Amino acid sequence: MTRPEQLLRDHDRFPTEKSRRSLLWHTKLRLQFTGWLQYLPTGIVAIAFLAAAVVGWLLGAWPALFWSTLSIGALVLAATVFDVITVKYGVRPSEALPQRNDDLDIFDLIRARRSCHSFQSRALTASDRGELLHAAYEHTRPNRLIGTHPIRLEYVAAPMRIWPGSGAQEFLVAIAPRHYDRLTLIDVGRSLHTVVLYATRLGIATCWIGPGADHSSVIEHLGDRFDPDRDHVVCLCAVGYRSWFTPLFVRVMERFTHHRLPLSALFFADPHCQLPLAVQVAPFATFGRCYEACQWSPSSYNAQTTRCAAITAPVGTASKVVRFDFYTTTTSRFYAPVALGIWCANWEAGCRGLGIPGHFAVIPGESGDHCDITERPHYGVSWIAERR
Ligand SMILES: Cc1cc2nc3c(=O)[nH]c(=O)nc-3n(C[C@H](O)[C@H](O)[C@H](O)COP(=O)(O)O)c2cc1C
Repeated sequence: MTRPEQLLRDHDRFPTEKSRRSLLWHTKLRLQFTGWLQYLPTGIVAIAFLAAAVVGWLLGAWPALFWSTLSIGALVLAATVFDVITVKYGVRPSEALPQRNDDLDIFDLIRARRSCHSFQSRALTASDRGELLHAAYEHTRPNRLIGTHPIRLEYVAAPMRIWPGSGAQEFLVAIAPRHYDRLTLIDVGRSLHTVVLYATRLGIATCWIGPGADHSSVIEHLGDRFDPDRDHVVCLCAVGYRSWFTPLFVRVMERFTHHRLPLSALFFADPHCQLPLAVQVAPFATFGRCYEACQWSPSSYNAQTTRCAAITAPVGTASKVVRFDFYTTTTSRFYAPVALGIWCANWEAGCRGLGIPGHFAVIPGESGDHCDITERPHYGVSWIAERR
């Protein structure tokens, strides 16, 4: 398989057959995986403003307009040059090790996690790496999984090609068996995100990488730890210490992606996902900030494809929660089930924090045709409340 073919292989990664073949698409991929694409948008904006200033000057435009266009162009150009020097070429002062987050409760910890798109050049300390790898091992043990297929989180220390992050030198690579199994992908999301929360506690910054990974580079670095006949690289997670030096374009992108749908669009009181769940009212209020924990889960392109329906049973005149069913709203085969698994990790971390017992299981016979919000949805898994 040639490298471009490998890049374009399977997954929900690339939009249309036509765009796959276009020269523009290949140029974009090339810039993306050589680490230049994140400087291009701001470079283009700067040149556009400077060109407009020159044209305005030639046409004798209003001086205030000329100077403001020129100043914006010059500032954006200066920021782009600064980014290239400090981030791309790494010419910058060394930064302090971040603090651990031992003082945060689980919900504040979940809110404190944000995807990191620029890492310090220093490697993880031996103790942080040791603790992280121990967590990665523990949370992928067969008795921790919902499904029956094994998954692995392989540690790779190499500057693998990712987009749009920069400076990442250490990764956890999530590997599942090659044959497709949706529950295994849910397990990947749940296990890896439990490790992400653990990393956040240690002060380690993380970034899930799915479509932005050059899978051929990942497979190359895995070497004989990857068997193409048996293994499938699902996604990666970059780990390291967050750097203040972040390209302007990435800062803007982070601002736009750091929003979430309201709880009324995520949690429902019926299996058809039509009736918003009254999360502030008994018996649902017992779960406190667990809803918010799921709401702030990461998802590929911040697509937010997971939904949840509460199932209750009558107890006298009141009702009690029997279970919560988790769905994906799209037919995406890879990243939507992974995102559902991430919700599961945050949900169970929240429930554990509140001392509410429960476990995950797949309810036999669930068709997954209920939650018809945008596209045909898919049932994933349920969290079953246990008696206290
Ligand atoms: C399965 C998955 C794949 C992702 N892939 C990428 C990626 O390729 N590149 C990237 O920079 N971020 C990636 N992300 C991070 C999301 O873009 C990010 O979680 C989302 O924009 C929300 O931002 P937040 O994590 O800061 O809350 C991925 C997240 C998930 C869950």
